[in-house]
Amino acid sequence: MQVVIVRTAAEVAQFAADRVAAQLQRKPDSVLGLATGATPVATYELLIEQYRQGRLSFARCHTCNLDEYLGLGPEHPQSYRRFMQDKLFNHIDVLPEQTHLPDGLAADPEAECQHYENLIRQLGGVDLQLLGIGRNGHIGFNEPMSSLGSRTRIKTLTPDTVEANARYFRPDEFQPQLALTMGIGTIMEARQVLLLATGEAKAEAVATMVEGPVAARCPASALQFHPTVCVVLDEAAAADLT
Ligand code: F6R
Repeated sequence: MQVVIVRTAAEVAQFAADRVAAQLQRKPDSVLGLATGATPVATYELLIEQYRQGRLSFARCHTCNLDEYLGLGPEHPQSYRRFMQDKLFNHIDVLPEQTHLPDGLAADPEAECQHYENLIRQLGGVDLQLLGIGRNGHIGFNEPMSSLGSRTRIKTLTPDTVEANARYFRPDEFQPQLALTMGIGTIMEARQVLLLATGEAKAEAVATMVEGPVAARCPASALQFHPTVCVVLDEAAAADLT
């Protein structure tokens, strides 16, 4: 596990954007594994900037997101599809048909999970997987006690995650408690993993991931076994490392 500690969240984003850009320059038809949440937004902004300056193209790549809420369609303001459209896809030259997320409205969600696994395989696997980390150590929506070998499946969100994400929903709005998520086993098959964490709220989860035992209690700790994982932290997120 390579751990990179920089001073600020802005520097984390710069590091991540440079890594993604380098990947696309090396292999323009890369499969990028993408994440939602607050953490990667600044990285996406930098990538959009590089695209606008004509320094980067996404025209040949495929993207596979980690997860989607079960029950939310692409037009729902809180769906992860909508998030990705707003924060990245609408602003770059990626082909819409080459952007992939699990379908939150699938009639048969279990079949959709299998379909998503097959899709990743058919694309040749994920070249570079971008990850955030939950305060409880989740990656994707693999909550604590998820099987470390798990594949794409339906997961019930923990109360902690529901609470952390409640800020995005109006109090009177339906907030899903289920999601379709790549499994930990799926994530572990990515050729490279780039996990970003910023802010003091992530410090404990980061320390457990990096220094704790590999245990289902902290799903991100499975990454200790990944041969090419890079964890990029600002000083606040790194504060609990010994
Ligand atoms: C998002 C995802 C989640 C987030 C995590 C951190 O697709 O899978 O695991 O990466 O919840 O979220 P933020 O970045 O909002 O703190």
